[in-house]
Amino acid sequence: MKSKIDAILAEIESFNIKDLKSLEEYRIHFLGSKGIVKNMFGELKTVPGEQKREVGQLLNNLRIVAEDKLNSAKETLESSASDAEKIDLSRPGDVDEIGAHHPLSLVRREIIDIFNRIGYTVSEGPEIEDDWHNFSALNFPPEHPARDMQDTFFIEKGEKEIALRTHTSSVQVRVMENSKPPIRTISPGRVYRNEAISARAHCFFHQVEGLYIDKNVSFADLKQTLLYFAKELFGEKAQIRLRPSYFPFTEPSAEVDVSCTICNAKGCNVCKNSGWLEILGCGMVDPSVLEACGIDSKEYSGFAFGMGVERIAQLKYKVNDLRLYSENDVRFLKQFTAGF
Ligand code: DAH
Repeated sequence: MKSKIDAILAEIESFNIKDLKSLEEYRIHFLGSKGIVKNMFGELKTVPGEQKREVGQLLNNLRIVAEDKLNSAKETLESSASDAEKIDLSRPGDVDEIGAHHPLSLVRREIIDIFNRIGYTVSEGPEIEDDWHNFSALNFPPEHPARDMQDTFFIEKGEKEIALRTHTSSVQVRVMENSKPPIRTISPGRVYRNEAISARAHCFFHQVEGLYIDKNVSFADLKQTLLYFAKELFGEKAQIRLRPSYFPFTEPSAEVDVSCTICNAKGCNVCKNSGWLEILGCGMVDPSVLEACGIDSKEYSGFAFGMGVERIAQLKYKVNDLRLYSENDVRFLKQFTAGF
């Protein structure tokens, strides 16, 4: 055993480490996990008891000698390498990935900007809402289908019903309850409906609600505000049309179409050859809603509107599958870096 150790010491001494390659060969040969030093330690158990101590010391010394040579050779090689040798100029560079805002954030921000310019503030409300703010204060009759389990995600049923809000109109109620007219605000946020997920429907999506309450607010103000909005969003050529509709919380109510931006209202498959695209619902706030929220309906009137952010994004970016917005597929999201 002792002579074996001496032979290895001699081998270590004569091993010529001239470059990084032979350095690695040396390391594996002597100090690797299957290397000579490890093997020798393995053989220690065959040494008779009384010699174990001495041989053990010799082996420790062997390991130290082997390691010292490795470390000093490494140091010499590294310090003698010139800078050019240390930096591998042929390696591909690291590309800094630039993130992108989510398309829904881009659209929400644009909508907010447009209304900020005409004096609208932003207000928000909770996504978990009680029956009063989501339905009752907004004039939903008790038997209205939206109050059905099939349409709404209820958290608590019974005396005090708690649900995920089905629209941002609930924020209107909170704002009217908590502030005095004049009120000019928009409320962006996420809403939930009990729908099967498909390309055209999702169990959550986003809306922006608008509310304007003051003395003598008229339907003409509503129409002009929405025309301004459509032109800012889709360009100067955009036109709007209002179709009579029904919502429990507005009277009269209308649905608003914008002239098809894809075919310039000539007719295409997106507007189904009608030249018009539906973008929002609106109306004059029903006096009973004003009263429910503590606003004198004889003194004040106002309008409200609500739009789907996914719908606007769909028209702006021609994304036809709603699921893409929440799948977080980087290949989809990366396409919106231009708006960054
Ligand atoms: N809350 C309605 C919905 O989710 C949208 C809406 C329609 C909001 C008319 C309004 C409005 O403020 O006046 O379908």
